[in-house]
Amino acid sequence: MSPAVQAAAEFRRLHERAPEGVWSAPGRVNLIGEHTDYNDGYVLPFALRHRIAVAASPRADGVLTAVTIGSDGNAQWAIPTSVADLAPDRTGGWAAYPFGVAWVLRQHGFADGADLVITGDVPTGAGLSSSHALQCAVALALLGLADATVPLPELARWIQRSENDFVGVPTGLLDQTASLCCVDSHVLFVDVRSDEQEQIPFDPAAHGLGVLAIDTRVRHSLADSAYGDRRTACERAADLLGVPSLRDATDISGLPEDLLPLARHVVTENARVLRTVDCLRAGSLPLIGAALTESHVSLRDDYLVSCPELDVAVESAVGAGALGARMTGGGFGGTAIALVPVDRDEQVRAAVTSAFAERSFTAPRMFTAVPSPGAGRDY
Ligand code: GLA
Repeated sequence: MSPAVQAAAEFRRLHERAPEGVWSAPGRVNLIGEHTDYNDGYVLPFALRHRIAVAASPRADGVLTAVTIGSDGNAQWAIPTSVADLAPDRTGGWAAYPFGVAWVLRQHGFADGADLVITGDVPTGAGLSSSHALQCAVALALLGLADATVPLPELARWIQRSENDFVGVPTGLLDQTASLCCVDSHVLFVDVRSDEQEQIPFDPAAHGLGVLAIDTRVRHSLADSAYGDRRTACERAADLLGVPSLRDATDISGLPEDLLPLARHVVTENARVLRTVDCLRAGSLPLIGAALTESHVSLRDDYLVSCPELDVAVESAVGAGALGARMTGGGFGGTAIALVPVDRDEQVRAAVTSAFAERSFTAPRMFTAVPSPGAGRDY
């Protein structure tokens, strides 16, 4: 059963009426362009087929209710709250994500009372943006109930604000933009500074390739990770260089030792995104592999956001015939991706599985990530 169908069924069961509509939004992988978004740089994500769905109906009393149904079928209710009373620090836990979205939409005059029933199949804590999929689906649901539309890049910025200011996590724009703006069978090239977007056809299967996602099952919450420290360090580096952001840096040689490798990652990663985009525009998809692996090495050695499981996933995949591999998302755990010739897929999976087993790591979960549609209304 798709998350959208399940959300509608759960809504009927819990509220004894049909929802007014169902909206859903996907998780994402980032093909390349990591830790560049909050440096005003370039990113290149695609949407996954895994989605979070929200079945919703308006309420006349201005109260927002939300319930999420876990994969075990258990319902977890948020404390019902009047939309007018929403404020940062009043809501904790998972409910901060949907309520934060209502809070930010309310400031723009949109959100009102509603019942939300949430289901989904985006693995949580796997670096695949399940929380952003949730936020994007809730945003579209509340806008849909208000009969309103907002340009998607702008909506992504609103959602980012709800995450930064209401949830309290200092993330960039990559994930919301990917979930809202990606389209089927494409990667989305975004210049975060200008909001310029280009949909680039991306069909690995046509080249006898697949993008294998390797969930290391190492969970690391962005809220208590070193993510914020990296962000602050990048801002310091830009200040010292006298540029608005590391996007503008060229000569970084004068930076102090603790900042130099971080800046080097950002500068070289932006260049790798542009190289990857050039390959894709030229129809040379198999040539992107080298940039993927270079990106991983840079994230591991310069940006210091990898972990042993991600490194083993990348090394064993490349060792077994992947054309390139890298961690995707914030890091410190989560998922790696590998560009794998279809006829080596089984070998790569087996090599990764046994490399994990040899080191007594938890067995990884793997699936082929297929570029899928972005967020929208299901019915
Ligand atoms: C997380 C954040 C994004 C981005 C990535 C790293 O996914 O939510 O904004 O910074 O990490 O590229």
